[in-house]
Amino acid sequence: MNIRTATVDDLIGMQNANIFNLPENYTMKYYLYHALTWPQLSYVAEETSTGKIVGYILAKMDEDASPTEPPHGHVTSISVLRTHRRLGLANKLMKQSQEAMSTVYQSAYVSLHVRKTNRAAISLYRDSLGFEVHDVEISYYADGEDAYGMRLDLTK
Ligand code: ACO
Repeated sequence: MNIRTATVDDLIGMQNANIFNLPENYTMKYYLYHALTWPQLSYVAEETSTGKIVGYILAKMDEDASPTEPPHGHVTSISVLRTHRRLGLANKLMKQSQEAMSTVYQSAYVSLHVRKTNRAAISLYRDSLGFEVHDVEISYYADGEDAYGMRLDLTK
């Protein structure tokens, strides 16, 4: 398995890995915007033998932060195909992106939203990576489910 930065050529493979896994889907324009604006922050897991994209992380820097706030990264979406789960791929994708947020953009922390019932993802963020719940956003998702806003300090 090869973990590498995502390029414009990967966008269809990333969208494919998204559509089957998550109700939150994005337009190709939104993927492209991430890849072109923050090219160091999004990564793919590519099957070496076939070139198939089996996982991705789509990440950005927060554009809404006020000038007095420190810059911080945000994970828009992460997903790994069912056939390739529990191999440590999401962990590696998160760590690569966090490292780039810190070194390229001096990001003070990384934030993300996750569904309150998404046990696998919450376990990845909290138990594996050390994220903490920062707040709860009521009815954050289109179907009314609440989100945990989670953060990980990148200065330590
Ligand atoms: N149950 C409990 N803990 C889990 C599970 C699970 N099903 N999956 C992962 N974890 C935790 C464990 O602590 C695991 O470590 P361990 O295997 O040593 O016990 C750790 O996370 C790392 O697991 P990885 O193998 O790196 O995770 P994986 O590559 O399987 O991907 C992911 C995890 C991305 C959550 C995957 O299940 C998935 O694609 N789910 C559907 C899409 C999704 O929910 N994405 C997150 C939405 S929120 C957002 O995008 C910001």
